[in-house]
Amino acid sequence: MSNNVTMEKLTALAKSRGFVYPGSEIYGGLANSWDYGPLGVELKRNIVEAWWKRFVTSRKDMVGIDAAIIMNPKVWDASGHTSEFTDPLVECKKCHTRFRADQIDIASTCTNCGAKDEFTQSKNFNLMFKTFLGSTEDDSSVAYLRGELAQGMFVDFPLVVQTSRKRVPFGIAQIGKCFRNEITPGNFIFRTREFNLMEFEYFVNPSEWEKWFEYWLNEMKSWLLFLGVKEDQFVLTEIPDGERAHYSKRTVDIEYHYPFGQKELYGIAYRTDFDLKNHMEKSGKDMRYMDPMNNEKYIPHVIEPTFGIDRSVLVTLLSAYTEEEAPTAEEGETDSRIVLKLPKALAPFKIAILPLSKKPELNAVAEPIAEKLRARWSVDYDETQSIGKRYRRQDEIGTPYCVTVDFDSLNDHAVTIRDRDSMKQVRIKIDELEQWFGANL
Ligand code: GAP
Repeated sequence: MSNNVTMEKLTALAKSRGFVYPGSEIYGGLANSWDYGPLGVELKRNIVEAWWKRFVTSRKDMVGIDAAIIMNPKVWDASGHTSEFTDPLVECKKCHTRFRADQIDIASTCTNCGAKDEFTQSKNFNLMFKTFLGSTEDDSSVAYLRGELAQGMFVDFPLVVQTSRKRVPFGIAQIGKCFRNEITPGNFIFRTREFNLMEFEYFVNPSEWEKWFEYWLNEMKSWLLFLGVKEDQFVLTEIPDGERAHYSKRTVDIEYHYPFGQKELYGIAYRTDFDLKNHMEKSGKDMRYMDPMNNEKYIPHVIEPTFGIDRSVLVTLLSAYTEEEAPTAEEGETDSRIVLKLPKALAPFKIAILPLSKKPELNAVAEPIAEKLRARWSVDYDETQSIGKRYRRQDEIGTPYCVTVDFDSLNDHAVTIRDRDSMKQVRIKIDELEQWFGANL
């Protein structure tokens, strides 16, 4: 990475500034569980809302749904998840620590206890989170927390076609939580057992799948640029035969250069008619689509672009994180600053209002400005500590603009706007602020 970011630096900043906290911390935490704090939740919402607008509401060929997390367990049998949704697992015979067999060299040393060559044979471990519905805990009450969003879109396909009257090609999108009993979660919010996902199933005529696969792969790349990820920070990896998920005939992973290595960020899969066909067989319901042009009935094929939300937050933060030498408030002096160069649309606060001191006459000017701007943008108000420290704090949380109200403001009815990235300052009349931000945010 070119910006010196490490996972230690990022997790420390995330915690101290209220982006992401360790989960259940007062009880000593819970391994690999994380909570989004006040700024993290804003960043995540900004990402999710931008995604929904870009891929759903601004398109005529897409609709959304919000399906239940717990579905009829027959769904997961038909989709192959109860039998195929597995990772290969080995266990150290000495300390009983479990590892994913595809992530370690099983002829090597246990990283937990140092035992050599002491791993069990690899066996498949199912990732679905099992639970029981109601008061009895037997086979008849078994249910699963969904392991992927996709099945909601597949089982609702006939109803969506009927009610939305969309014609192929079109997509069904969904955002929500998924659950996987991961063997080796870790690396902050990269791999957790509950995580947030946004994805869509794009239904196409089988003859057109290649065209749509390329189209959506390009759209995914341009979405990444929108998040502030640079082109040299990610690579496309074609997943070979034998390594793809059980439902996929072609998969390309978009991998990111994380501080802990090059790993998956997003994926796009060609799921063929695998899911609709299986649901048609197992449910007995007709899952075919009737082409109104020629009255031909067929099962559409599916292109599935999938975007992990937590990984989106992670790469947005990693890509924005910058350490640089910058001038201080003192004439001619510099020091090093951390600045999150977040895209403006994603920044938790767009504007910070900073009265130069706590004097009531400055507050009397600054507070109405904050109130007015808050009607359109998310605004922070900070009057504690020196102005230099407050600038640095806003830099660290990625606020694009700081507005300083000083004693001259009382006479010239103007304020200073400081740009986060260039640190350039401009003097603007208070009456013109809304118009200025309208043009710049
Ligand atoms: N419906 C397809 C599907 O679920 P996947 O590759 O298994 O595909 C989709 O998962 C995306 O979810 C991944 O590309 C990644 O961004 C994210 N993801 C997967 N497992 C995750 C985990 N344990 N923690 C956080 N994000 C995860």
